[in-house]
Amino acid sequence: MRKKVIAGNWKMNMLPNEAIQFIEEFSPLVKESNNEIILCMPYTDLFYGLLTAQGTNIKIGAQNMHFEDTGAYTGEISGKMLKSIGVEYVIIGHSERRQYFNETDETVNKKIKKAFENELRPIVCVGETLEQREEGKTEEIITKQTELALQGLTNEQVENTIIAYEPIWAIGTGKTATSDDANNSIKAIRSKISENYGQNVAQRVIIQYGGSVKGANARELFEMSDIDGGLVGGASLKPEEFAKIVNYNK
Ligand code: 13P
Repeated sequence: MRKKVIAGNWKMNMLPNEAIQFIEEFSPLVKESNNEIILCMPYTDLFYGLLTAQGTNIKIGAQNMHFEDTGAYTGEISGKMLKSIGVEYVIIGHSERRQYFNETDETVNKKIKKAFENELRPIVCVGETLEQREEGKTEEIITKQTELALQGLTNEQVENTIIAYEPIWAIGTGKTATSDDANNSIKAIRSKISENYGQNVAQRVIIQYGGSVKGANARELFEMSDIDGGLVGGASLKPEEFAKIVNYNK
């Protein structure tokens, strides 16, 4: 049985004092949960987040990292830096980074490898645009993105990668993929992994759904056969709403 992994992606929101307050309010609400809970926060919140989450069942993640450890890359943060303060997870290749910051399948692949080198667990995002979906290319796009992202990884690394299937048209729009659609896309990703890395790896890898997940639809989505939890944007900014999502099975 795969564990459900539910991650919040705060994007460019929350000041340190807000992050601290969030965790103080949120942690008692989810302390009985048997799901894996991750908060991916801005760099400036990470240290405060790590300290405040100590002794709770909440793990802390970043939202991006560079693919080198050090060097002349003004404004960048490396995986090594994240690891040095105790961060455990990092989102890689979010569609907003692909769209606005020239992230490519190649940089995504380099970053994933570097994340593993630094013992960070990557949450890798794939997803199709509305246009691609309307052209019937969803499966082709998301399986290709997955294949390129994971290229050159060992079976063990693939097994430890968290994949987030986030259809771009469902992000921040209030439009959620139907649970059947999301499940079918995730099955396609899993079957590509099975083809490339074998059935055992494919059955163990965590694949989340993301895109307008909220308290009201979490249960229906997360109870599908292949959806192993979610990557949640807007609804992860409010402790009560995010707790409803985490506690979908209570
Ligand atoms: P929303 O939940 O706000 O649609 O965002 C999804 C997302 O991009 C999470 O990474």
